[in-house]
Amino acid sequence: MVNHLIANQNVLFVKLHQFHWYLKGPEFFPLHEKFNELYDEANEYYDAFGERLIAIGEKPYSTLGEYLEHAFISETPYIEPLSSQDMLGILVDDYRVIRDVTVKAIHLAAKEKDDVTVDMLTGYKASLDKNIWMLQAYLGNDALEGEDEE
Ligand SMILES: [Fe+2]
Repeated sequence: MVNHLIANQNVLFVKLHQFHWYLKGPEFFPLHEKFNELYDEANEYYDAFGERLIAIGEKPYSTLGEYLEHAFISETPYIEPLSSQDMLGILVDDYRVIRDVTVKAIHLAAKEKDDVTVDMLTGYKASLDKNIWMLQAYLGNDALEGEDEE
């Protein structure tokens, strides 16, 4: 599951750059900056998760092919223009998918009594919850609005 998170973080990292570059309109300055902050954050967790897997004798995925194969979120070439609202909506959905994987990973790590991984994943989940809330707030929504039944 941590390896799936690594794959997802990479797809997210690339997508956040796509939005950072292609964004247009009156919200350009705050969102260009925000997307930068979010891909820096994704990159930090990606590295921490890979290093954690190595430290416990596992093998993190380390190629773009593996990332695309094992991510649960998807990417799209930038052909049709997206509004900032579209971009934020896509990110809320992606962060929710990643959060669900994170919750599963926390339960599995707890079952294995791997406290360090539980701790790392719990910190990550807090950051995902916060990102979802903030993106939703920017869209004028409550944090949990539009969430699918789980
Ligand atoms: Fe940039």
